[in-house]
Amino acid sequence: SLTLNMDIYHGTFIHCENFGEIEVLENTAVVVHENKIVAIDVNIDFEQLLSTYKTSEHKIREIYRLSDQEFLIPGFIDAHIHGPQFENAGLGYDKALLEWLKAYTFPLEKKFEDVNYATPVYEKVVETTLKNGTTTAAYFGTIHSKSCLKLAKIAKMKKQRAFIGKVNMNMNVPDYLTEDTRQSIRDTKQFIKDVISLDDPRIQPIITPRFAVSCDLNMLEQLGAVQKEFNCHVQTHVSENVDEIEFIKQLFPKHANYTDVYKKANLLGEKTILAHGVHLTDEELELIRETNSSVIHCPASNTCLKSGLCNVRRLLNNKIKVGLGTDVAGGYNPTILDAMRRAIDVSNHIFLSNPEYRPLNYKEVFYLATMGGAAALSLGEKIGNFKIGKDFDALLVNMENKLIRDLRPEELFQKFLYLGDDRNIKNVFVAGDKVII
Ligand code: GUN
Ligand code: ZN
Repeated sequence: SLTLNMDIYHGTFIHCENFGEIEVLENTAVVVHENKIVAIDVNIDFEQLLSTYKTSEHKIREIYRLSDQEFLIPGFIDAHIHGPQFENAGLGYDKALLEWLKAYTFPLEKKFEDVNYATPVYEKVVETTLKNGTTTAAYFGTIHSKSCLKLAKIAKMKKQRAFIGKVNMNMNVPDYLTEDTRQSIRDTKQFIKDVISLDDPRIQPIITPRFAVSCDLNMLEQLGAVQKEFNCHVQTHVSENVDEIEFIKQLFPKHANYTDVYKKANLLGEKTILAHGVHLTDEELELIRETNSSVIHCPASNTCLKSGLCNVRRLLNNKIKVGLGTDVAGGYNPTILDAMRRAIDVSNHIFLSNPEYRPLNYKEVFYLATMGGAAALSLGEKIGNFKIGKDFDALLVNMENKLIRDLRPEELFQKFLYLGDDRNIKNVFVAGDKVII
């Protein structure tokens, strides 16, 4: 027979398709069947909904009827987060990037050679980000394949959509984190195969050269070839800090600029996400745009590590795809709500020193956190908003604890972006599965 096992959501939906625009759908039903949105009925009241769907050919698994203090939004996308650094969140921001890595980050990452050490940290980071609405995360792990694979298995078990990266590095890091190039490439290929064999479309491997400071040309080129072989995603850091950029000039004197190092190694493409890009030159923007790569804006980190104020509007004006990242533990807050607020703050500070600059508003950062992140990850056809055929990745937001009356849905939503936290995220859905209660 034609019976469908469906979940039905009824109430207010808020999402966006284009940068700077939000769509508010009130009195709407979204029907989900096997991970995907199969129908959207706008302007349907609850009784109408029941008479339409409570028929013999429809099997309803669950009906979510939202109150007027509730609404559904697409799940947040954290397109740059370091799983192992979760432990260091809120510690050690007295140094800038290169010294910070040496003093705090590398000694911590060494510990992840032990899977037993890594496991509880990775459980905690997946649980915490999910609870805070991150339905998709792009994780940096460490160089240690076994621990990274454990992170992939934990994300699979907890049903987060996740890109998992085994980090590569073979220079300018402590001996205990310096890989032999051949072994690193072999480990990376095996890691990619191991993640693919988890056989879960939500869990994907991502090639993760830490940054060009820590990877020689040979390693970068070989990783470019691995990308071609497996057609997987790539993530790295670019142009975060001025001392880092100076170092790159010394390390790669024949390259035109930082971004060109990745370009020449065949690491730029539509599946490449580049964290930070605070100090990119116009030539670099051109390289990023023409390769259809993306930049992940990590405002909290850029402030904590004194890296600089990233001009997001300049990136967007140059037709570059932009997503948001928490960059835990360059940033200390694991929630994308915080990344949205910090993105607004940073843009306000740019405005204060340049009155011609138009600061970002809440609708614009919401785009970056959802549809923008999806597009940055080349997942714009699969997630990012509510459309028939897309996977249902969503947050059920409840604002009752804020003692608000008589606000329009758009105002309630704006309040959530500025004042909400995990207590307002009542349910999280990834590919139609309820992942927190
Ligand atoms: N650049 C290279 N490694 C890192 C890291 O772990 N965090 C940040 N913020 N930048 C980096
Ligand atoms: Zn980072």
